[in-house]
Order: sequence, then structure tokens, then C-alpha cells
Amino acid sequence: MMTTISPSILNSDLLDLRGQLEAVRNADYAHVDVMDNHFVPNLTWGLPVVEATVRAGILPIDAHLMIQDPDRWAPGYAEVGCASVTFHAEAATAPIRLARELRRLGTKAGLGLRPATPVEPFIELLPEIDLLLIMTVEPGFGGQAFLDCMLPKIQRARAAINASGLEIALQVDGGISRQTIERAASAGADVFVAGSAVYKAEDAYAEVEELRRLAACHAH
Ligand code: DX5
Ligand code: ZN
Repeated sequence: MMTTISPSILNSDLLDLRGQLEAVRNADYAHVDVMDNHFVPNLTWGLPVVEATVRAGILPIDAHLMIQDPDRWAPGYAEVGCASVTFHAEAATAPIRLARELRRLGTKAGLGLRPATPVEPFIELLPEIDLLLIMTVEPGFGGQAFLDCMLPKIQRARAAINASGLEIALQVDGGISRQTIERAASAGADVFVAGSAVYKAEDAYAEVEELRRLAACHAH
């Protein structure tokens, strides 16, 4: 399994998005959080800003949609060229139809689960998706503490993915840092979103390298 690092630009210097993306050009993706003030109590940006990050051509864009009605809005993020588009299971009306639509548009389809959403009801959907996101904080804000109580859920998701024989990335998002990434990797995650850990570090590039090194040591 490849260790994948996806820095979240949520709490970076937003007046300098290009510079913030270039600062982590050694990462695999840039994680861009779309929030609508309904699905989560915070508001970020929408399609025009995400499209600008795609057009910058610095890193593939990993769009995380914390929005209601992704059935309506998510395909647009695939159309502008995001490498992966993750919508939330709690918000989607027809997740299978939506995942198929995203794949048809040429993007990876991601399914996100809030901390209180169990993984078991979604095992049957694994063949429809390319990425499963287990939130390790309540979505909405950067800088929160990693929820250790999510580790068993990550383990169960890893077991289900392995049993399926499918190539599905297992992403964790929230509170990932030098202090927590090894636990998440040991539990079975292979895609690591890190916001404040990367952008609060003195050297974001070096922090990406260090997170990758720590996670790789514990890769399954
Ligand atoms: C939170 C977002 C995260 C956030 C992570 O709801 O989905 O991507 O930026 O930030 P940190 O790494 O600081 O927890
Ligand atoms: Zn996110």
C-alpha cells in the first residue's frame, strides 16, 4: 500500500493559495474542503475557487465536500477536473448513482463518514467507490484533536477493504500530526489529510516528508 499525503489548505494563508500549494509540492494531493454552513457549521468556498486550484496545475486536487445535496453539486467538481471528489454518506440521497456519475466523469469517487456514522452499512458500496474517508474529528474546522475512538472503525474498514479485494484508498481526516499519524497508519489508513500540522509547521515541505516517513513505517 502506498502512503499518500494530502495537505488540507483550509487553515493556510488563503491570500496566497498558489504559494501554499507550491509549498507542499512534494505531497500527493492537495485537500480542498468545501463547506456550506448547513452540513457543517462553517462556510468556505465553492466551485470557482476549487477550479482555480485545479487550474494552477501544481497538485492533483482532492475535493472534500461537506455539503448538503451532493447529488446535485458534486458532479460539477468532477467536471472542473478534481482528481477525487468525496461526498458524505449522511448527505447523499442516492450514493451509488452519485458515485457512478463521478466515475463516469473521470474522477475518483470518495465516500465520507462522520465520526458517529458506522462503516458497516456501507460495506456493500465498496465496489462503487475509490476512496473511503473516515473522519477523525467532527467535520467543520481544522485544528481539532484526533479522535482515538475512531481507531477501531479504521481497523474494521481496512478489514472490509482487504476482504473485498478491491483497490480502495482509506483516508483519515482530522487531527493528523506527528503525534497521531502512526496510530492511524497502524489501524490501516493509507491516505492522510493534514491541515494545521503541515501549515503551522515552520517548513511545510519538510513536514510532509516527515508525516510520510512516519506513516510508511507503519503501513500495512
Ligand atoms: C475538517 C476538514 C479537514 C481539516 C483538517 O472538517 O475536513 O480537512 O482541514 O484540519 P486538521 O488537520 O488541522 O485537523
Ligand atoms: Zn477535509
